[in-house]
Formats: sequence, structure tokens, C-alpha cells
Amino acid sequence: MKCRVTVDTRITIGILDRRCYGQFIEHLGECIYGGIWVGEDSKIPNEKGFRLDVLQAVRELNPQLIRWPGGNFASGYHWIDGIGPRDQRPRRYDMAWGAEEPNYFGTDEFIEFCRLVGAEPFIVVNAGNGTPEEAAHWVEYCNSTRETYYASLRRKYGHEKPYGVKLWGIGNELWGEWQIGFCKDSAECARRTVEFANEMRKVDPSIELVAVGCEDPEWNIEMVKEAGKYFDYLSIHFYDFDNKPYRELVAVPIDVERKLKNVYDLIQSVRSKYGIKREIKIAFDEWNVWYPEAKAPLLSQVTSVKDAIFTAGMLNMLQRLCNIVPISNFAQTVNVLPLIIASSDGRMVLTPQYLVFKMYCNNRGTHVLRTFTDSDLYMSNSIGEYVPYVDVSATLSEDGKTLYLYALNRNEEDSFELQIVLKGFNPKNGTHQFISGESVDDKNTFEEPDRVKIEEARIQIIGGEVRLDLKPHSINVIRLVD
Ligand code: AHR
Repeated sequence: MKCRVTVDTRITIGILDRRCYGQFIEHLGECIYGGIWVGEDSKIPNEKGFRLDVLQAVRELNPQLIRWPGGNFASGYHWIDGIGPRDQRPRRYDMAWGAEEPNYFGTDEFIEFCRLVGAEPFIVVNAGNGTPEEAAHWVEYCNSTRETYYASLRRKYGHEKPYGVKLWGIGNELWGEWQIGFCKDSAECARRTVEFANEMRKVDPSIELVAVGCEDPEWNIEMVKEAGKYFDYLSIHFYDFDNKPYRELVAVPIDVERKLKNVYDLIQSVRSKYGIKREIKIAFDEWNVWYPEAKAPLLSQVTSVKDAIFTAGMLNMLQRLCNIVPISNFAQTVNVLPLIIASSDGRMVLTPQYLVFKMYCNNRGTHVLRTFTDSDLYMSNSIGEYVPYVDVSATLSEDGKTLYLYALNRNEEDSFELQIVLKGFNPKNGTHQFISGESVDDKNTFEEPDRVKIEEARIQIIGGEVRLDLKPHSINVIRLVD
């Protein structure tokens, strides 16, 4: 089968925010303990208590943003428990997940982890059973240069310079009854958001705030109307829980794209109706597939090539929505609904979803370009529309010299001969990386860790045109250099 895509490097959609391919780590199952943190005395090789193999794998993703400490965990977490000498920190019962929290990994460890992997920290405060005052103290601990109590505590524990945490979430999924301290309605959440924002900004007016949004438009209307003057991003989460057949799963990003656009349009209408000047965009700060096998307390699952295609579809979609969804966080990085599976006996497996992130994060331009793809379609019954087999997005480097194309072939049986017509760009050479495996169900396991891998293929460059093959069920990243 054949497909043609046209890319004009002079037609830009917008700027790709550096925080667009963020990660999320939560005190849940073996994400933090066993996954990221093993402690200095562990037999597992570690750097200052951080598990080395995982550290290296996360570094290779070049993540620009990491969200922490939850998730549901955040709504019962008291940050003060997680600072100071580790052997004196209290062991608490974590009501969110019914686990014991030793508090070995707290704010200082999180900031250190972010520094080790080169990411910006994104902290979610406890707006469940915590108070605005407690959240403001956390901002002081992280960001203040004053001689006041919490800033001095940070210095006392060896961190002279402030951490400068810019992005803060006010609560997590406060609309859900499973959430500790959930809100009875959106009016309550809006009021709570205002109180938190007010106190946190009194300590550091330069911070950016994410408030809790959800699928329910009524909720979002109330949040923007009553609290919109106080926050910068509305948080939206998405998990596909349905264990869908292959073609339905890989169509899901199209539906999510539509839903995110609707949320954004709604935000803008409410802002305009109520004269809210503050700009508000979307923080898509939890998303993934969630299979029935992923049950508490571990939430472990082993995903396959089909999930990698879903993931690439989501990343292409997020590129297209760069102007309205600058922030996203994949849920989650290690062991929980994981990209990286790290066992207690020191082994590690990288899932096909991990490989997608690796290809995208290490091949990214700054400007998202419009693409015009002429692809055959199939009908998706669950989203009720025709879906192109081939989905292509593109970014261009700041200096205009490198063009990246991200092409996925949703067709599980046929390959496509892709013809790329370039306008305003004349490539001299290029590379083509892809992930495909033998079947859509192929996985990486401890027994066979490299069954699915990143491979390389040939491309043909003739003048302003590039030709290459897209294997069935494949994700392809093409890097062209001028
Ligand atoms: O990512 C796992 C959980 O899913 C998070 O704790 C919660 O926010 C969501 O419901």
C-alpha cells in the first residue's frame, strides 16, 4: 500500500513545550521503593541510594518534567515527614494505597533524582487532608531565600540554594470518592483551590499552578469560573481501561484529541464570559493504558507493541495540540503501569512503550509543523469515525536544519510505502528508526528482554522527496538533516 505525506517547513502549528513528554512517579507499589530508590546499603548497584540501572534508563529518556509524589498518594502525604535524617523519619500508614510509607524518599531525594536525570520537578501538594498553610510551607522549603523557619530547615539539611520549583499541582482527582479528602462538588474544589493558590503564591508569586479538572464539563466550568483567576493549567487524566481490540486501541488518541480540544474550548468560553484574564491551558498530567491485570497494591502490567502504537499516537496527538496542552505526564515511569520494569533481584526490562519515549524524546525539534497525509482509512466503532492507517506529525529544530517525522502505521497486516514530499527543506541525509516487533502482542520480558527493539532501516532521498517503508504495526522516527 502507498501513502503520501506533504510537509511544508514554513507552516508551523506552534512551539513544542519542553514539558510535553513528562513522566510521573508515585509512592505506589514498587515505583519509588524498589524502582527508583533502593537505599545506599542495597545489594542492587546504586548511586546515593538511587537504583543505577533505572537511573540510566530514565536519563536516556531525557525527560524534561517529572510529577511527584502522586496521584492518590499526594492527598494524604505530609511533606514534613519526608525531610531530615532518614533514620529519624516517621513510618506512616498510607491511606491511599493501604501501604506502609517509610519516608526515605522525600523532597530532597526527589529534587536530587530530577537533577540526576536532568528533569524539572513538578510537585503535587496535599489538598486532600492537608492545608493551604502546609502547602505554603512546602513552597517556602523549596523556593525561599528568607531566613524563615522552613527555608532555614532546607539549609540545615544541606541545601543552601533554593530548589526553584516552578510548577505545583493543587491536589489530585479531588472529584473522586476514592480520593482522601475528596470534594463534595466542584464549588468546594474551586474554593479550596483559591485558598491553596492564595497562600502558596504569598510565599512565591512566581510559581505556576495546576488545578483539578475532569471529564465532567460542569465541574470544569465551575473551576474556571470561580478559581480561574488563580491557576494556569487545568489537570486532565486519561486511562484506557477497556482492554480493547487492537484497531480500537490504536484509534483512541483521535478520540482523546477531540476531548482535549473540547475541554480547552470550554475553558476559553468560560474565561471570556466571566472576564478571566489569566491564560489557562491543559496539563494532561496522567495518561496510559490500564489493563485488568494491573491491580493494587502493585499495579503491574506488561505492555506490548500495540500499546507502543497507542503511545506514539498519543505523542503525535500531543504535538498537534502543542498550543493548548503544553504539559503531559505519562503514568507511570517505573513498575506501576510501567515504562520500565525493575525487579527486586536487580533485573530490568524496557517495554515497547519505553522505546517509543526514547525515540521521541531524543529526536525532537522545537517547532511543530503541519503535515498533510493522504492515507487509507478504517472504521473505528468505539470512536465512531474513520481512522487513517498512517498518522504523521513533524517537528523542526530551532535552527531549521533538522526535520523530524513521526510516522505510525496502524495497519497490522500491510506495510506502506511512504512518500514524503518536502517544501522549504532540502535534506542531504537522514536516518530511519522504527519499532515493530513480529506481532502486535510482542512484549519484552525478563526471559526475552530484546524481543522488541529499536531498529534501523534505509531511506531514499531524491531531491526534495524521501521514500521509505513503514512495516505493519510500526512506529517510525525519521530524522532528516539539511
Ligand atoms: O496512576 C495511578 C493512579 O491513577 C493515580 O494515583 C491516580 O491519580 C489515578 O487514579
